[in-house]
Amino acid sequence: MGFLTLSTCVVANIQAGYLLLVLLFCNKADSTLRYSVREELAKGYVVSNIANDLGLELKILTDGGAHIVSEGTKQYFQINKNTGMLLINERIDREQICGEIPNCILYFQLVVESPFQLFRAEVEILDVNDNAPCFPQKEIVITIPEQTPPGTKFSIERAQDLDVGTNTVQNYLITVNEHFRLDVLDGTDQRKRPEIVLVKQLDYEKTRKLFLQVSGVDGGEPQRTGTAVVQIIVLDNNDNPPVFNQSIYKVNLFEQDAKDYVALKVTATDLDDGPNGDITYAFSHFSDAMGRIFKLNNKTGEITVAEPLDFEDTHIYEIEVQARDGGGMTSFCKVVIEIVDVNDNPPEIFLSSVRHSIPENCLPQTVVAVLNVRDRDGGGKGDIRCSISSHQPFRLTSSFKNVYRLVTDGQFDREKRSEYNITVTAFDDGTPPLSSTAVIRLHISDINDNPPVFNKASYIMQIIENNNPGELIGSVMATDMDTSENAQVFYSVIEDMVNDCPLSHFITINSNSGNIFAVRPFDFEQLKELTFLVQARDSGAPTLTSNATIKLYIIDQNDNTPTLLHPSPNDGSFSAEIVPRNAEAGYVVSKVIAVDADSGQNAWLSFHLLKSSDPSLFSVGVHTGEIATVRGITEKDNNRHTLIVIVKDNGQPSLSTTATVKVVIAENLSGNHLEIVEEEKADEYDSHLTIYLIISLAAITSLFLASVIMVVICKACRIKPSKHPSALDQNMSSSNIVSFRTSYLDSLARGTLHQGYLQEVRSQDPAKASSCTGKEQIDHALLIDFNNKNEFLQDHQPAANAIPPSHSSYQRVQAILTRPMSTDWQEG
Ligand SMILES: *[C@@H]1O[C@H](CO)[C@@H](O)[C@H](O)[C@H]1NC(C)=O
Ligand SMILES: *[C@@H]1O[C@H](CO)[C@@H](O)[C@H](O)[C@H]1NC(C)=O
Ligand SMILES: *[C@@H]1O[C@H](CO)[C@@H](O)[C@H](O)[C@H]1NC(C)=O
Ligand SMILES: *[C@@H]1O[C@H](CO)[C@@H](O)[C@H](O)[C@H]1NC(C)=O
Ligand SMILES: *[C@@H]1O[C@H](CO)[C@@H](O)[C@H](O)[C@H]1NC(C)=O
Repeated sequence: MGFLTLSTCVVANIQAGYLLLVLLFCNKADSTLRYSVREELAKGYVVSNIANDLGLELKILTDGGAHIVSEGTKQYFQINKNTGMLLINERIDREQICGEIPNCILYFQLVVESPFQLFRAEVEILDVNDNAPCFPQKEIVITIPEQTPPGTKFSIERAQDLDVGTNTVQNYLITVNEHFRLDVLDGTDQRKRPEIVLVKQLDYEKTRKLFLQVSGVDGGEPQRTGTAVVQIIVLDNNDNPPVFNQSIYKVNLFEQDAKDYVALKVTATDLDDGPNGDITYAFSHFSDAMGRIFKLNNKTGEITVAEPLDFEDTHIYEIEVQARDGGGMTSFCKVVIEIVDVNDNPPEIFLSSVRHSIPENCLPQTVVAVLNVRDRDGGGKGDIRCSISSHQPFRLTSSFKNVYRLVTDGQFDREKRSEYNITVTAFDDGTPPLSSTAVIRLHISDINDNPPVFNKASYIMQIIENNNPGELIGSVMATDMDTSENAQVFYSVIEDMVNDCPLSHFITINSNSGNIFAVRPFDFEQLKELTFLVQARDSGAPTLTSNATIKLYIIDQNDNTPTLLHPSPNDGSFSAEIVPRNAEAGYVVSKVIAVDADSGQNAWLSFHLLKSSDPSLFSVGVHTGEIATVRGITEKDNNRHTLIVIVKDNGQPSLSTTATVKVVIAENLSGNHLEIVEEEKADEYDSHLTIYLIISLAAITSLFLASVIMVVICKACRIKPSKHPSALDQNMSSSNIVSFRTSYLDSLARGTLHQGYLQEVRSQDPAKASSCTGKEQIDHALLIDFNNKNEFLQDHQPAANAIPPSHSSYQRVQAILTRPMSTDWQEG
């Protein structure tokens, strides 16, 4: 085996000198045969005549038992001993034996047993192009991002060819296309390597996949080809921005009912795929206010109105919308939303100047208010009509557009209507028109144009005579339709003269309440009625007045006793009525005549027989006062009779007086007889006479007292007593004074005198009283003295002395009434 190794080395190292070596150094037995034969030959193919090649006789071969020993596992060769031919025993596949080794040699030994000889042979197996190039993968996948720059190379696995030499892959080819070419490189191992070169940029959007056929071509004859498919997958790059299908979106929206309305939809498309093509919409450069009004769906691009729109706020919205794809590329579009005006705003009324009150006597065309009107619809350009309700004394005038003046147009009377609500209505020109109103509340202020009005044009009042001073007679009332000061009414009595005496001495009025009081006691017998005017005066400027007539009737009181006229009570003579003895029944003896200063019932007199010496003989006519005989006079009857007749008035209580009538019954109507009769009956008369004398004395005394009082009065008044109408009146007056004084003082003492009475009395001018009767003068002096006793006492010392009881009463009054004296009264 060492030989073999050596031999192999020699062959391997010195190929060129191979034959020479065989010839020179090896003997015949050790010579090596060399053959070459093509692969893939069929069995029995004759390679060579090996016997001849070795110079061996056929007999040696057959006898010597020659056989071939292969050095490999397989016996590719055999020898025909009879012919000495070397034959192919088995098909030889060079690629299986040698692979890619270019020189593929098979070795065998020819062994002859006897005599033993060993020959070595080598057979070169020549390649035959029996294998086509083959790519390891039939499909080659290459992923290339789009926009990969041209020139970028992508190696692909080379194709394999089991053959060797030129029978191996000599070239590569690729389907013709615009994007790629194929470069074949000479590898370090002398093999060709294919490489795909990008010649034109790929665009995913145009080509997403590309199939190319790559072929490997060998150099054999015939040429064999192996192919593979190269699948080129283009990877998407975010190379496309989203694109809106409109650059400006415009939409018109009605301002009304736009809420939740999908105004419009923006649409952008992106040619990129996957996330690179996912578009999100957003507002850009967007104020918060707009963000509240419009909502954008970030996926669909729908723009929704989220808030009520108001044309009056904004007429147009310009919004920029951004579309952004997943790769961050953006583009923008503009959205223009125009708001279409709807007549949804009523006109507005502004009172630029307004008066809340005007006097009722204001002139026509007095401006009450100035109004501005405005309508926000239509950009404030809408036409507006203004009106006020009719039937009111106002008018609207317009001097400029949308400026109105509200002026008066008529007469006002606050007393009829003191307040106006003027409703101004403004209409716009929309369809339907909208309106708004403003109410101006206007007060009519008062002017003193109404006099006070008495609730009666004339009043009839009455007072019972002998009233207390200060007694309430009645009340008047006047109302004034004006207000406040203009309606504040004061009352006064219009001064007049009554019986030469100022009216104020009789009555007074409370200027506030209208209550009328008596200043003094009235005497019906002196004054039966009193008519005077009361004036009501308001406090306006100028003041207005009105008058009412008051008729005051003094009601009679039964304060006068009947007065006898016949028989006269003062008649000193005791004359008697003479009745003839032969007088028959019904003979009128005498008539009692009496009068009563009172009137009415109080003066209605009745006569009764109070006392009669013979009641059966005489009777008195109840109404006539006639004394008549009841029966004929008989002899038995006395000649002299005394009758006392009582005269009663019909007052309550009734007053009465008595009359004494003497009756003499005479035989004959001669005067001589009469005297005789009288003397005869003188004793009978005495007792009666004494009574009458006492009565007379009392009467005279009282008469005297009355006279003294009269003197005092006269002194006080400096009026002659002759002014008095009659002695009767004088009598009564003085008695009245006394009674007045006591009752007056009593009432003072009781504190019941009306406060207003005293005040009214003070305010009267004492000088005016000069023309009054003495009685009134005293009253006045009395009133003065309440506040200034000393002055009174100096002036009226005698009078004060003359009436001691009254004087002590003054002191009492003085003690009770200590009111301070009002100075202005003293001056007056
Ligand atoms: C834009 O795209 C939207 C939605 O696909 C479509 O309704 C609209 O008509 C398109 N506008 C234009 C101008 O093509
Ligand atoms: C899109 O809107 C939805 C719902 O409003 C929100 O959840 C989401 O975050 C928004 N996407 C982007 C990218 O703004
Ligand atoms: C005017 O309006 C006021 C307030 O509404 C109301 O009190 C008043 O009585 C009205 N006056 C007239 C005269 O209608
Ligand atoms: C009221 O009477 C007085 C006095 O007679 C008179 O001057 C005045 O004009 C009268 N007033 C009216 C309103 O009649
Ligand atoms: C009355 O007197 C006259 C004469 O004086 C006388 O004639 C007459 O008879 C007398 N009558 C009687 C009734 O006495």
